[in-house]
Amino acid sequence: MMSMQIQLFLVDANCLYPCTIPISVDFLASSAFMETDTVAIIGPQSSGTAHILSHLANELQVPMLSFTALDPMLSPLQYPYFIQTAPSDLFQMIAVADIISFYGWREVVTIYSDDDHNRNGVTVLGDQLAERLCKITYKAVLPPDPTVTENDVRAELEKVQQMESRVIVLHAYTKTGLLVFNVAKRLGMMESGYVWFTTTWLSSILDSNSSLVATSIQGVLALRLHTPDSKRKADFSARWNSLSNGTIGLNPYGLYAYDTVWMIARAVKMFLDQGNNVSFSNDTKLNNVGGGALNLEALSIFDGGKQLLSSVLQTNMNGLTGPIKFNPDRSLVHPSYDVINVLENGYRQIGYWSNYSGLSIVPPEELYAKPPNRSSSNQHLNSVIWPGGTSNKPRGWVFPNNGKQLRIGVPRRVGYRDFVEQVNGTDIVHGYCIDVFLAAIKLLPYAVPHKFVLFGNGHENPSYNELVNMVAADVFDAAVGDIAIVTNRTKIVDFTQPYIESGLVVVAPVRNMNSSPWAFLRPFTPLMWAVTGVFFLIVGVVVWILEHRINDEFRGSPRKQVMTILWFSFSTMFFAHRENTVSTLGRMVLIIWLFVVLIINSSYTASLTSILTVQQLSSPIRGIDSLIISNSPIGFQVGSFAENYMVEELNIPKSRLIKLGSPEEYASALETGRVAAVVDEQPYIDLFLSNHCKFSIRGQEFTKSGWGFAFPRDSPLAVDMSTALLTLSENGELQKIHNRWLSKRACQNSGAESDQLHLQSFWGLFLICGVSCVIALLIYLFFILRKFKRHSQQASEPSSHGSSSSARLQTFLTFADMKEDKSRSKSKRKRNNDLMNGGRNSNLPGMDPIC
Ligand code: SER
Repeated sequence: MMSMQIQLFLVDANCLYPCTIPISVDFLASSAFMETDTVAIIGPQSSGTAHILSHLANELQVPMLSFTALDPMLSPLQYPYFIQTAPSDLFQMIAVADIISFYGWREVVTIYSDDDHNRNGVTVLGDQLAERLCKITYKAVLPPDPTVTENDVRAELEKVQQMESRVIVLHAYTKTGLLVFNVAKRLGMMESGYVWFTTTWLSSILDSNSSLVATSIQGVLALRLHTPDSKRKADFSARWNSLSNGTIGLNPYGLYAYDTVWMIARAVKMFLDQGNNVSFSNDTKLNNVGGGALNLEALSIFDGGKQLLSSVLQTNMNGLTGPIKFNPDRSLVHPSYDVINVLENGYRQIGYWSNYSGLSIVPPEELYAKPPNRSSSNQHLNSVIWPGGTSNKPRGWVFPNNGKQLRIGVPRRVGYRDFVEQVNGTDIVHGYCIDVFLAAIKLLPYAVPHKFVLFGNGHENPSYNELVNMVAADVFDAAVGDIAIVTNRTKIVDFTQPYIESGLVVVAPVRNMNSSPWAFLRPFTPLMWAVTGVFFLIVGVVVWILEHRINDEFRGSPRKQVMTILWFSFSTMFFAHRENTVSTLGRMVLIIWLFVVLIINSSYTASLTSILTVQQLSSPIRGIDSLIISNSPIGFQVGSFAENYMVEELNIPKSRLIKLGSPEEYASALETGRVAAVVDEQPYIDLFLSNHCKFSIRGQEFTKSGWGFAFPRDSPLAVDMSTALLTLSENGELQKIHNRWLSKRACQNSGAESDQLHLQSFWGLFLICGVSCVIALLIYLFFILRKFKRHSQQASEPSSHGSSSSARLQTFLTFADMKEDKSRSKSKRKRNNDLMNGGRNSNLPGMDPIC
């Protein structure tokens, strides 16, 4: 190829310095050139050689330009005299990573020859993929191109077949590349499901010899250095075709070779125009080394090397490959590639990649005028015919073990079997979690062959940490069930999105406090009751003082006035006071007091209502904090992460933890006081409380987590399942499954009944009322009997002495039934007063005011 380019150089009539400047085209091939004084070198072709020769170029200060040694690790810092005149492979690795990310694949297998160029390219690809959250899961390394054999390739490809990823990047030289495709074809790896990417090696040979298109490479995506269309390029191609008689196609590297020669020619012109001379001096270092057969002492340093290097780097020209200019980091401006799809009868271009705007279906040169836009929404490629002739984007991965049924571990639960349950000793499992899983896989665009494998001894719930460990250890391909997504598990497996929330809560036994007969006293504290009572009296007295002199209703006998004060003050409690207030001050005090009474009344009513109707549950455990400090035993569900969490995160001594296996055990442990509270996840507790009403959640959920399905690390199925679970959540299916299995049955003893108030809450009040009635009646009886006695003595009716007890009862009832004559009562009081004043006695019956 190199000699070809020299011919091109020579045929261009505009060549300025073709014959006077010696240019070495392949350093190793002809050491004689090295002994000739050399001002610039084009080459070498391979990056491996470039790594070696660049040291010499540095020493001799001879610019070395290569359009094929594009190893991204050929650093300009280490090799200042080495210049890549075509875009470094760094950019094609960015392009490959961008395409993989564009199609949404996450895992890639690389196949490459173990030489500097290909190895370094794959290393850079790994870095680029990592930046896009993708990764190389397997590197199939082949011996270097000259020595590779079919057996080497077969052995590696058979390993690749066992991998989960079906996205393969082949970075090699021509011989190896074509051999890989041949063997891959025979191994059935060019069928649908596979995705093959190649770097520019494939497009170069297709351009040079299109008859090479074989069935073994159909569907492959390849990159090709992009060179903008131009008249010069078209003319050059035509000239090339006539020169080569169409036997050798022109690939972009040919164009870069041509431009490279021109680059040197222009740089030399600039060098000479600046008045520099071509001169050489002996290299004392090399002389001292004494190169022996290498004849190093014959080599001399190019005195103007630095200036010529600078002239090359200042290149600013329009070549066959488009505008040519170097960035300060010596990379070419605007590196870009064509993305091609190999078809049965050639290939077609499906788009472009440029370092400027990423993937596009318009040529990059049209984008340079616009602002750069690498956003994902601006990335486009045309449709692709993939291996196997399908136009559907391959999934990019397969189930491990060559598509055998996935072994899905499910917990063999003993308690809370609504979540996962083994059906009557069979291998069939059902339950809420299983239904969610089955609904999710139904949404995947591919079949997921699977079988459930029960994990656990059937006597108690298994350890969920162990179940997750078995996924990490590849005993199971996934674990499905009520598996909490917790930190120590996420370190070893990948979880799907959570399909239900499952924070930890505390459940404790509770006692309903609204059953107290003295509940009506609870709205106020004793002090409040006392102060309120005292204020009633104070206000009564104050109003009496203010009214006494001007208001007849506040006058009368002292006893009457005391009664008035008491009656007035306490009747204001119900705004039922009868006495009018006439004084301004009295009214003022009363109105303020009535306002106070209004507030007190309404507050009492509100508080009492809440005490009697809202469930006021009493338990010493008010939440996780009070549970921790209580030092009481705590129940947890056997097998649950809650045990570790309490020990490791909450520092609760293990001796306080009691394992419980079922809701029934929860209930009995809580009732008997074996545990003060149970700590478990919300979904279990919701189910538990729907059947057990004597317990309640205390405090808030104190952890936030959810349940998910566990898959091995980086499993693409986990990603697809997450998407499916989100779909289930958004379309309401998840809720329907929840309702089917976990809809809460109302607590048998609660519900409407719990809103009703029972006599129990009020018998204190009825007792007070009843007792006061009885006391009043007894007092009344006492007084009336006394009066009746007095009345009987005064009447001194002889007949009554000898009368029967029934007759006496009859008389008493008649007496009690008799309406009291108020005037007589008043005259009696008057007579009594007169008597006290020495007046006459009276024998008329009268009523004591108390009666
Ligand atoms: N859900 C619990 C856990 O994942 C088991 O009960 O540990």
